[in-house]
Amino acid sequence: MRNHRTRLSRRIFLRGVAASAAVFGAAHPLLGLAARPGTVARNPLEIPLAVSPSGLGLQAAPAIVDLGGFHWSSALAYNGAFPGPTIRASRGASASIQFGNGLTQDTTVHWHGMIVPPAVDGQPQDPVAPGGSTTYAFTIDQRACMNWYHPHPDMLTGEQVALGLAGAFIVNDAEEAALGLPSREVPLVIRDTSLDSTGNMQYKPRSGGFEGPIALVNGTLNPYLDVDTALYRFRVLGGANARIFRLALGNGAPFYLIGNDGGLLAATAPVASIDVAPGERVDIIVDFRDLPLGTTVMLRDLREGWNLLEFRVTNLVIDADAIPTALSTITPLGNPVRTRVFSFDGMSKINGREFDLNRIDFSVPFGETELWRFKTNGNAPHPVHVHGASFQVVSRTGGRNRTFPWETGWKDTVLLEDRETVEVLIRFEGYRGRYLLHCHKLEHEDMGMMSNFEVV
Ligand code: C2O
Ligand code: CU
Ligand code: CU
Repeated sequence: MRNHRTRLSRRIFLRGVAASAAVFGAAHPLLGLAARPGTVARNPLEIPLAVSPSGLGLQAAPAIVDLGGFHWSSALAYNGAFPGPTIRASRGASASIQFGNGLTQDTTVHWHGMIVPPAVDGQPQDPVAPGGSTTYAFTIDQRACMNWYHPHPDMLTGEQVALGLAGAFIVNDAEEAALGLPSREVPLVIRDTSLDSTGNMQYKPRSGGFEGPIALVNGTLNPYLDVDTALYRFRVLGGANARIFRLALGNGAPFYLIGNDGGLLAATAPVASIDVAPGERVDIIVDFRDLPLGTTVMLRDLREGWNLLEFRVTNLVIDADAIPTALSTITPLGNPVRTRVFSFDGMSKINGREFDLNRIDFSVPFGETELWRFKTNGNAPHPVHVHGASFQVVSRTGGRNRTFPWETGWKDTVLLEDRETVEVLIRFEGYRGRYLLHCHKLEHEDMGMMSNFEVV
């Protein structure tokens, strides 16, 4: 195992291998990706099919997908779709997902953000072999929120996610329904990619994290979305391997932030920009009600200066929806009974150790509130993610030295930048058993910046 991981690290460090799901070698005449804003041909935003998790068949396999405008790419896809179908269910429903592995590698499906028993959490210890299958069955019992399903195999997560395996899993509940949130709701899975000379998505691992030069929203290159003069609710997922986006609207209008990883915030917060790291989600309302027909508004990434998605106001309606103010009750987790410190060291270690499938690093008593302190000595950003429970961000010291509106409420992933210490309160009250703590920069995770723990 140790040798295998060392080989993987070496592979990533040397950038020696560019993995590709290439099936066809044909050149793509439609490649023209570096066009300046305004000159670029835009493609309709892909909206993934919505499906129920009850009796769902889910197959991971190589596929040819349209990135928009007949820009075909080889990919690894769930049910042939990139992103995979949006799974949607209400709290209390049962998920029973028959999963088949049509890849040539081991894989798993992890339900990032969902509180499920360890045996169906899709951990690297429970791989599904090529040609194999398994059933992921669990009861959905958590607040309304948007989650992310993606592969989690040992040392292959970065490659499989980069090549297309990902989808959204939305949970609804009665509290959310009673708020009368905007009925126009669109999931936005935002990531980057790299295309090879024939236009196929490729994976070029780097130890600092794979970043590609091209943005994709819902798997669409240069997307646009026709909108009504109405309020829209966007469910945003940071779905990149390593890239952090700073989202803002090109017309200077605010986002009305209503939720994040673990569901609704206490109250709506207008914000000018939002940072979204890999694994983080934000639930935002955008107000197009007073815009003249023909107006365009760009969803931008301020870090890279990218135009991510163009909204085109094309349809006049009288919208009865309103922006809510009070949303939910967030009960603070009480006084912690103990503190644990996790140092995210280098690019492959937590507290000085690389991940070992067979080693449990610590145990956490069920139902007790703990304070977890995440720190780093460099090589950040590290988006820190925990399985099995949501947490509350208490403080960030050093670096940016503050917390942000999108870090209130309940989180399962928090961004740790260089020189930062982030403290969270956490209490496991779903299930006992083995869960994971890791950096969600997938190259760091694959190189070993991950730890097993056991809720006892
Ligand atoms: Cu999004 Cu352990 O994963
Ligand atoms: Cu997870
Ligand atoms: Cu990291």
